[in-house]
Amino acid sequence: MRALVACFALLLAACAVAPRPAEPPAAPSLYEQLGGAHAVAALVDALVAEYKADPRIAPRFDLPAADLAYLRERLIEQFCEATGGGCTYTGLSMAEAHSGMAITPAEFDAFIEATVRAMTRVGVTDEHQLILLSVLEPMRGDVVGQ
Ligand code: HEM
Repeated sequence: MRALVACFALLLAACAVAPRPAEPPAAPSLYEQLGGAHAVAALVDALVAEYKADPRIAPRFDLPAADLAYLRERLIEQFCEATGGGCTYTGLSMAEAHSGMAITPAEFDAFIEATVRAMTRVGVTDEHQLILLSVLEPMRGDVVGQ
């Protein structure tokens, strides 16, 4: 019996010092892969610049500076939240935000094309562009025709 207890104690001691299997490293979020806060802010600046430069939608973004600054902050939050950056979007729902604007399908298409130009300009990879577009495209129904 004493031998059995000693054996058990030995086994416990061995377990205590045995190296634990390494935790698999957490996969970096898309937010991190994009380059984090600085890169997402630069992306949103490029987005707003492209929207203001595209004659098909520019008049929509001819807003007072304070409104543009507010929009920029909400877009940063929205991208951060959607890409796993740990932010919380504090703005209106997409249907509320675009209510009364009667945005057309053609304007939405122009918005998406301007988004692609901006992403390309700041160096977002094709793979990441596709992921971001797959986040935006499902919002079409809440944005168009409200
Ligand atoms: C998936 C596509 C879109 C996303 C994710 C998006 C996102 C947003 C967000 C986050 C806001 C601010 C919400 C708030 O007030 O709390 C906003 C406002 C606005 N959006 Fe969009 N938007 C989209 C499509 C469009 C399109 C296609 C247009 C026009 C062509 C547009 C024009 C505007 C304008 C002008 C405002 C500001 C309204 C104001 O300050 O009075 N958006 N959008």
